[in-house]
Amino acid sequence: MNALAQDIDGATGISRRAVDAKVAVVLFGTGVVGGAFLKLLGTPVAAPLQLVGVANSRFQQTRTRQLAERGIRDHLNHGGDARDNEALLAALDASDADLRVIVDATASSSLARHHAAWLARGYHVVTANKAANGSSLAAWRELKTAQRTGRTRYGDAATVGAGLPAIATVRRLHACGDAMLTLEGVFSGSLGWLFSTYDGSEPFSRLLRRARELGYSEPDPRMDLSGQDVARKLLILARTAGFRLASDEVVVENLVPEDLRDLAPEAFLAAAESLDAPLAARHADAKSRGRVLRYLARLDQRGHARVGLAEVASDHPAANLCGTDNLFAFTTTRYHAQPLVIQGPGAGAEVTAQALLGDILTLS
Ligand SMILES: NC(=O)c1ccc[n+]([C@@H]2O[C@H](COP(=O)([O-])OP(=O)(O)OC[C@H]3O[C@@H](n4cnc5c(N)ncnc54)[C@H](OP(=O)(O)O)[C@@H]3O)[C@@H](O)[C@H]2O)c1
Repeated sequence: MNALAQDIDGATGISRRAVDAKVAVVLFGTGVVGGAFLKLLGTPVAAPLQLVGVANSRFQQTRTRQLAERGIRDHLNHGGDARDNEALLAALDASDADLRVIVDATASSSLARHHAAWLARGYHVVTANKAANGSSLAAWRELKTAQRTGRTRYGDAATVGAGLPAIATVRRLHACGDAMLTLEGVFSGSLGWLFSTYDGSEPFSRLLRRARELGYSEPDPRMDLSGQDVARKLLILARTAGFRLASDEVVVENLVPEDLRDLAPEAFLAAAESLDAPLAARHADAKSRGRVLRYLARLDQRGHARVGLAEVASDHPAANLCGTDNLFAFTTTRYHAQPLVIQGPGAGAEVTAQALLGDILTLS
């Protein structure tokens, strides 16, 4: 049995958990989220965690001295060992830790294809990458089976809503037999910002460029506008709530006109004016009915799932959303008069890295 104590670090005021289980960690991805996770590893709460390997898409490092260096992320950008996943797993095996954890802070589908095999081999997997649990139903089932086979856990908190407790809440409701009647929300910070800022006074394409400059959207905004990322998050939440939903069962409204889908990113931005007139018309229509446009994800109790633009009335929880906040509204058999609502920043390096750390600490 692991003793677990909790106290407060005098200097930082941060709660410090002293856990006697040692945790060996391999980190994939040293970008925005991976970089913030590396910083968290240097804080007192992460004392039980020992980094035994780290990789970006080009290089990796497993040597203790180099891993302990402050600039490991920058060093890896300039060189390191050649990429070899098995060598990273060998570093986990060589550790005398009680728990072995693989952290995936990439968006790589090829890496996500290994999640189930890693779980089955006895490694816990903690991920911000939704390319496994947000893909096919077969892949979702494989993850479940692999956890049973390997007696391991899949830390998925960071795959929806960054640090917000969206999946944890749905999981708890489901475990308590509280059936989901409607699951609804704004699951994309960039689409949330775009439609809460858009009031028809300036062209949508201009807002799109501003969102990109402010770092709210992906470098190629079509990644957000396609709705695919939102659809994956809806799939993850729906499956967690007990709906065995296949990827093609989510109706997705892609806001990118067909003739702009295959253009290079800069060419797309140059041609994005063609979004302006149709969106201005939809905005004016909604306004004439006293409503506003929001890019909503929605699931009903029959398992009908849709992501796309919707008109919402002023008393809808999404109507007053501002900035890049995410919103999750759950109407269940027990939360039926008013939905259970979770709202807050649904992206950001620190909160996402914290969700990864939280999943690891939960394991221990
Ligand atoms: N940013 C957020 O606020 C946020 C919030 C919630 C969830 N997420 C999710 O978190 C994940 C990471 O996001 P990010 O913003 O940190 O992305 P990012 O800044 O683009 O970083 C991605 C990192 O993954 C590495 N990588 C790619 N393929 C790899 C592979 N096969 N093996 C090892 N490393 C690989 C990249 O390596 P290189 O450096 O060599 O390119 C890079 O270091 C994504 O799945 C994203 O959807 C992000």
